[in-house]
Amino acid sequence: MEISVIGTGYVGLVTGVCLAHIGNKVTCIDIDEEKINTLKSGISPIYEEGLTELLQENINNGNLDFTSDYKEGLAGKKFVYIAVGTPQGEDGSADLTYIDKACESIAQHLEENTVIVTKSTVPVGTNEYIKGKIESNLINEVTIKIASNPEFLRQGSAVYDTFNGDRIVVGSDDEETLNLLEKINEGFKLPIVRTDLRSAEMIKYASNAFLATKISFINEMANLSEKIGANIDHVAKGMGMDKRIGNSFLNAGIGYGGSCFPKDTRAIISIGKKAQYDMPILENVVDANERQRDILVDKVLKKYKDISGKKVAVLGLAFKPNTDDMREAPSISVTNKLLANGAIVTAYDPVATDNAKEVLSSQVKFAKSIEDAIDGADIAMILTEWAEIKAYPLESYKNYMNQAVIFDGRNCHSLELAKESGAVYHSIGRPSMND
Ligand code: UDX
Repeated sequence: MEISVIGTGYVGLVTGVCLAHIGNKVTCIDIDEEKINTLKSGISPIYEEGLTELLQENINNGNLDFTSDYKEGLAGKKFVYIAVGTPQGEDGSADLTYIDKACESIAQHLEENTVIVTKSTVPVGTNEYIKGKIESNLINEVTIKIASNPEFLRQGSAVYDTFNGDRIVVGSDDEETLNLLEKINEGFKLPIVRTDLRSAEMIKYASNAFLATKISFINEMANLSEKIGANIDHVAKGMGMDKRIGNSFLNAGIGYGGSCFPKDTRAIISIGKKAQYDMPILENVVDANERQRDILVDKVLKKYKDISGKKVAVLGLAFKPNTDDMREAPSISVTNKLLANGAIVTAYDPVATDNAKEVLSSQVKFAKSIEDAIDGADIAMILTEWAEIKAYPLESYKNYMNQAVIFDGRNCHSLELAKESGAVYHSIGRPSMND
C-alpha cells in the first residue's frame, strides 16, 4: 500500500519505518527540514533499539523516504497516518494545535480519495473533528474516510512492541475502511481488534489509565505494607500469580512518569469533565502518583529532621531506564524538594544528563559516574533502576560515602544482600536494613 505518515516523532517514525518493513511504500512528512535531512541519510534522531537498522534497510530497498513537502509526500498515497504530538494543554486536556496544522496541510494538498488514520492519542470524538477539519479545507474534490489506530508502544522497546505487541486496534464507522486497515496490519501478524471510531479512541486512554491505576494501587499497598511490617515484593508476587491480576506492572516505586501516563490520565479526567462525569478513581490515581514522588524524600527528612548542608547523591534521573527522557520524571520533584530543604545535590544518570540539565534546578551538580556522585556524600538516593545502578554493589558505597546510607526508590536490591552489605538501606514497601 502507498502510505504517508505525518510527524516523525517517536510514534510517527517507528510507525513509518515498521509499515515500510512489512512491505508498504511509505513517505514520512515532517515540517522540520533538518530532521528530514538527517533521516534521509539514514540517521535516526531518537534512539530506539533496532530502529536505525530498519530505517537504513528500508531506505535502501526503496520502501521508505522522507520529505518536508506535503505535496510531494501526499502524491499518490491512499492512506495518510497522522502521528503528530498531542501535548497536555493548560487545563489538562490534550492540546490539538499540531493536529489542526496537519489537517490544514493535508487538506491543501490531497489529490486522491484517501483514508486518514489517526495514530496520535486524541480525545474521544477528535477523529470526527479531524474529518470535518480536513473536509472544510479541501482544495480538490476528493472524499476522505477516517480511522483510528492507536499505538501502545513503550519507549525503549518501540520496534519490538510493534512486531510483538498484544493487539492492534483499528476503529472506523465504515466497514470498507476497517477491511483496508486490517489488510495493512496483517503484516504485523498480531491479533486485530475491529471496532468503531470512538471505542478505538477510548481503548487507548482506558488502557493507559488502567496501567497507571495498577501502579498507584501497588504503591499504595507498598506504603501500607511498610507501616504494618509486610514486604511488598512478596505481596506483589502472591497477587500477581492470580492470572486475573497478572504479574506485570506491579513494581512499587516513586511513581510513574514519562510522556504518556501522566498526560493521558489527566486527559481522560478532562474528557470526563466535558461529558459531565466525575472520575473519582482516576483523580485519586493521579493524586496518589504525585504524593508517591515525595515518599522517598519524606523518608530522608523523617530520618534526619534537618538535611541542610547534607550532601545527597541522586542516582538515575530519567523517568525509566534505557531512555534519556526526562518528561514528568520523579527526579524533578525529588531534587527540588531536596534543594528546598537545603541539601547539596549531585546527580548521575548514564544517558539523561543533557536533558536533565534543561529541566533540573541549576543548583544540581552533575557527576560522570556513580563513584563520582557518591564520593563524600552523606546520603545516596536511587531514582531510576538502570542496569548499571542495580549492578553497583551495596558494599561499594561505603568506600566513597561518609557513611553508606541508601534510599532506594526502585527496590533495586534484595533485602538479603542489603543486610549482608552492612549499608543502611531503605526502600519502598519493605523493612529497612541495618538502620
Ligand atoms: C507507556 C505504555 O506502556 C505504552 O503502552 C503507551 O503507549 C505509552 O506509555 P512508556 O511511557 O514508554 O509506555 O513507559 P512504561 O514502560 O509503560 O512505564 C511508564 C512509567 O511507569 C515509568 O515511569 C515506570 O517507571 C513506571 N512503572 C512501570 C512503575 O512504576 N511500576 C511498574 O510496575 C511499571
